[in-house]
Amino acid sequence: GAPVEVDISKLEPGQLIRVEWRGKPVWVVSRTPKMLEQMKEHEGQLRDPQSQEPQQLESSTNDYRSLRPEIFLAVGICTHLGCSPGFFQGNFGEKVEGTDDGFYCPCHGSKFDMAGRVFKSVPAPLNLEIPPYTFLDETTILVG
Ligand code: FES
Repeated sequence: GAPVEVDISKLEPGQLIRVEWRGKPVWVVSRTPKMLEQMKEHEGQLRDPQSQEPQQLESSTNDYRSLRPEIFLAVGICTHLGCSPGFFQGNFGEKVEGTDDGFYCPCHGSKFDMAGRVFKSVPAPLNLEIPPYTFLDETTILVG
């Protein structure tokens, strides 16, 4: 599949946009300072907080799992059986324990934090996949 260009000039803090890359949904999220703060508190609750599992890109193994802390990209497919997780802001707590923002998979209840890192005691075995991408300029991302 061809690489996909994404214009993020209109992406607001806290907003998620979806693009398609190689037939897969890819999320591009502008993380707020609050989201970045919350992520630091999750370490002990995560299955693979440092993204040490194999098959992960170099750019996905830092604290934010991204090239820039505020901009997060992930393949929007649950690593359990491939359902499509939803994006919850502030109301993550209505679905599952905890009050933070994150991604919740309705199929079997897996949840992921704002870096796509999977929580313990949910069925999904791995963190969300991070697609390969680069910044062409300040507001343009090339996925693929
Ligand atoms: Fe997402 Fe099973 S497919 S929890």
